[in-house]
Amino acid sequence: MSTELKNTEYGLEKIFEGAEDFLPLLGTDYVEFYVGNAKQAAHYYKTAFGFQSLAYAGLETGVRDRASYVLKQDKIRLVLTTPLRSDSKLNDHIVKHGDGVKIIALWVEDARSAFEETTKRGAKVYMEPTVETDEHGETVRAGIYTYGETVHMFVERKNYNGVFLPGYQKWESDYNPEPVGLKFIDHMVGNVGWNEMNTWVKWYEDVMGFVNFLSFDDKQIHTEYSALMSKVMANGNGRVKFPINEPAEGKKKSQIEEYIDFYEGPGVQHLAVATNDILHTVTEMRKRGVEFLSHPPQAYYDSVPARLQEFQHEMKEDIQKLAELGIMIDADEEGYLLQIFTKPIQDRPTLFFEIIQRMGARGFGAGNFKALFESIEREQEKRGTL
Ligand code: FE2
Repeated sequence: MSTELKNTEYGLEKIFEGAEDFLPLLGTDYVEFYVGNAKQAAHYYKTAFGFQSLAYAGLETGVRDRASYVLKQDKIRLVLTTPLRSDSKLNDHIVKHGDGVKIIALWVEDARSAFEETTKRGAKVYMEPTVETDEHGETVRAGIYTYGETVHMFVERKNYNGVFLPGYQKWESDYNPEPVGLKFIDHMVGNVGWNEMNTWVKWYEDVMGFVNFLSFDDKQIHTEYSALMSKVMANGNGRVKFPINEPAEGKKKSQIEEYIDFYEGPGVQHLAVATNDILHTVTEMRKRGVEFLSHPPQAYYDSVPARLQEFQHEMKEDIQKLAELGIMIDADEEGYLLQIFTKPIQDRPTLFFEIIQRMGARGFGAGNFKALFESIEREQEKRGTL
């Protein structure tokens, strides 16, 4: 993969010079949410996002304190977990943060080594290396804390061929809505507090061996009212990308500050999931009731052809169709990308999803930040949090 990356503007080739290989990551393994009602959340992700039933753990499988539903769509695995009793520690997380991402699990060859290498560089322990077994083999998992109460779990599964992890059973369901074309997790963004971005950038560099390959300051990311700063961290093979945001001063409240207020601390802001056909994916998701941020104004779409021409890209998609669906377009030297953002997917204005289709571009839609943040501000205005 390394030879494909040649974008000097973003310094992507430097990933391989600067990143350290003490923590080789094979990719994202799963993302686990703690939610108030996992059964209903699973129904939502199946119906609205086209996820498929994969595995289950709960009372019926001998787990007494929680229920977990595992959903899959192509390479993406989501785990939705809820506590079954008032004395479960999971409740504290849900009471404080509401529904949200607890674990970003990373697939590794050797979980013990990943744990050792990161903890000796200062990572705070969440779970010591733990071997789990069943008739399908064994897994090793170990976890460390990242920002807030969020955890990176290292998952070693080379000696396991069961449906998900030991303790889970295959989940057969009579209700199987069609997938909508979501393929893999492109990036996951963390929101941290005032002046904490660089602390976490350094943490990802020192503890995880990541490199900072893109940065946006508040001069680039602002509207008339609010601002934020962002740095994108990537691992050595570029498969795992974690942008980190912090609020910046503006005339009104930054959307990052709104997140921190309602999540009551740092946490995952959005999951960006990739599709090969965003027109189909978003048409389906809208039909199934997913709410997206309001459409950019027509003036935005009028300016897109010039932006693509600047980089001499020809867009395959019909711009009018993109406008009808509210999909945004950004371009750089390597290509273009198409993206759209959902509204928050729970009542607290915290976690949301991005749907992204990359047509060569490796950026994050910097050209769309202004239009995007203006739509977010329209929502903040309604919530009285701007
Ligand atoms: Fe994003």
